[in-house]
Amino acid sequence: MDKNAERVKSAVRERYGALARQQQSCCALTSCCPPSQKLYDPADIEELPQEVSDFSLGCGNPVAAAGLREGEVVLDLGSGGGLDCFLAAKRVGEKGRVIGLDMSPDMLALARKNADRLGAANVEFRSGEMEAMPVESGSVDVIISNCVVNLSPDKDAVFQEAFRVLRPGGHLSISDIALVGELDPETRGSLEAWASCVAGALPKDEYLKKLRRAGFTDITTAEKSWRYIPTVSMWVSAVRPE
Ligand SMILES: C[S@@+](CC[C@H](N)C(=O)[O-])C[C@H]1O[C@@H](n2cnc3c(N)ncnc32)[C@H](O)[C@@H]1O
Repeated sequence: MDKNAERVKSAVRERYGALARQQQSCCALTSCCPPSQKLYDPADIEELPQEVSDFSLGCGNPVAAAGLREGEVVLDLGSGGGLDCFLAAKRVGEKGRVIGLDMSPDMLALARKNADRLGAANVEFRSGEMEAMPVESGSVDVIISNCVVNLSPDKDAVFQEAFRVLRPGGHLSISDIALVGELDPETRGSLEAWASCVAGALPKDEYLKKLRRAGFTDITTAEKSWRYIPTVSMWVSAVRPE
């Protein structure tokens, strides 16, 4: 990894580690993201303890649009406190399995504590980086991710890895941030802005080009209403062809 990528990764790990230790969503610090009540259907989160459902650092609801079926294996890239994993686990049922992947030890500790509290037996949290996933090739039916890919300094590697771990015919459902304006040079070079999901965001076309280059097909997107210029939240779905 080059020096800049290393600096980005450690700024990201530090920011999300601190949020996990304080059990504080980034909204409390920056008002940059909407509370989970606005992202999730209240009926989906009402059974969860409020501490778990309130800890959302996402920008969408990738589970709602993922079309999950009973028995499927789901991988969540950058699983944070585990909220999307727990919602996915309910949909895939006892015969299914959910793997949450995160590179922050503090975030993993929080997610595992939440899983114990919920008795979520079909959810496992794994330590690792999405640019080199500790996941067997062709073993995943559906990849979900919520506001994480923009944080990677090497998005090509993320999409290549996503393609590798999905089974032929598997698909991904990602909520993320796209850049819709120009960033001033100071923001573009700021590690804090990168870790806050701004400086690492790509224009949508560039993002989709990387997905296509990794081999994905049937790519569809929807722009979400949440807009903090120069970024906008979007939902992306794509298929790993047979
Ligand atoms: C913005 S938070 C989103 C957390 C969660 N998806 C949610 O919606 O609440 C980003 C998460 O991704 C993790 N993360 C960032 N870059 C990562 C990488 N390269 N590999 C694995 N995890 C990463 C962070 O540690 C953090 O937990």
